[in-house]
Amino acid sequence: MNNSKNNSCELLKAQAHIWNHIFNFMNSMCLKCAVELGIPDIINNHGKPITISELNSALYIHPTKAHCLPRLMRLLIHSGFFALSKLNDDDKEEEKEEEGYVLTNSSQLLLKDHPFSLAPLLLLNLDPILAKPWHFTSSWFLNHDPTTFHTSQGMAFWDYVGHDPKINNLFNKAMANDSGLLTNILVDEGKEVFDGLNSVVDVGGGTGTTSKAIAQAFPHIQCTVLDLPQVVDGLHDTPNLKFVAGNMFEAVPPADAVMLKWILHDWSDQECLKILEQCKEAIKGRKGGKVIIIDMVKEIEKGDNEAIETQLFFDMLMMVFFCGKERHEKEWAKLFSTAGYSGYKIIPILGLRSIIEVYP
Ligand SMILES: C[S@@+](CC[C@H](N)C(=O)[O-])C[C@H]1O[C@@H](n2cnc3c(N)ncnc32)[C@H](O)[C@@H]1O
Repeated sequence: MNNSKNNSCELLKAQAHIWNHIFNFMNSMCLKCAVELGIPDIINNHGKPITISELNSALYIHPTKAHCLPRLMRLLIHSGFFALSKLNDDDKEEEKEEEGYVLTNSSQLLLKDHPFSLAPLLLLNLDPILAKPWHFTSSWFLNHDPTTFHTSQGMAFWDYVGHDPKINNLFNKAMANDSGLLTNILVDEGKEVFDGLNSVVDVGGGTGTTSKAIAQAFPHIQCTVLDLPQVVDGLHDTPNLKFVAGNMFEAVPPADAVMLKWILHDWSDQECLKILEQCKEAIKGRKGGKVIIIDMVKEIEKGDNEAIETQLFFDMLMMVFFCGKERHEKEWAKLFSTAGYSGYKIIPILGLRSIIEVYP
């Protein structure tokens, strides 16, 4: 290949690369459309591969748009959310080769009633309220606002959710479903973490999914969920689980261990130090007292490109909505020693996230 041919090849490659980045949002928006229409649930309820005409009628697609649905499905097949499968109906000769849509592992996790459904997280993050701050990122780099969310909504994320019940419910549901998935692994493969504990306080514990699983798996452990009033008001205590409305920057109820799941990545180093100081106070004088953090440790990567991209995405999410960040092991270690803790142990059993035990 001569030089000019080489150059045009590179140029066209660069053009295609940019096209894909310009249009990447279509992956998210088409997935949102499929979830809003209820496509995963309809395929699931059908119990066998569903043909395009069956899908069109189950969804009541307007007749003028019937030819558009296969185009949406084609993109979502390409991105791994659906697959085509032969109908295998031997009785009907003419249908022998016909294909129907089936779910993949990823769309199973988008079913509305799946206990670990990611549908609430998808609908939350692609809601216009949460999508809007991204348009202000460049302005935010040039202004004094602590987060892009402040630039877009004029207040902190946690203040906003306190007065928007739709976003509050979606957020709490998204967190609860994530906790369901992770806690299953935690109380099974990570059960040693709870050895010798008689009480755990789950700080920022949301609607209590993690604590309910701990209370059920270890009935001798007294669990307390501390969270903001808009999250825990109206939730009912059970014999070994109680809900407390409060502010983790002001006080953390005393316990043998403090759990911080997906909390510290929401906050700046300075704010994390304040939280960790309150945690130290809560476990003061307790035999075997510790803080149990569940968050990403950026060094512990699975190495593949998708995993690295996920970590980069989460880091940007923390920057745009909170003053937080995802941290490398060195950054965690510095935080713990500055807060006066004596040591820590990383238990990398939760995929992209890890359990970090921190000792006073
Ligand atoms: C990212 S969510 C994590 C929820 C839960 N730990 C989980 O992983 O499912 C952060 C939680 O911190 C709570 N939170 C925010 N500020 C708080 C504060 N000052 N005191 C107590 N909880 C707070 C939020 O209401 C929310 O439930």
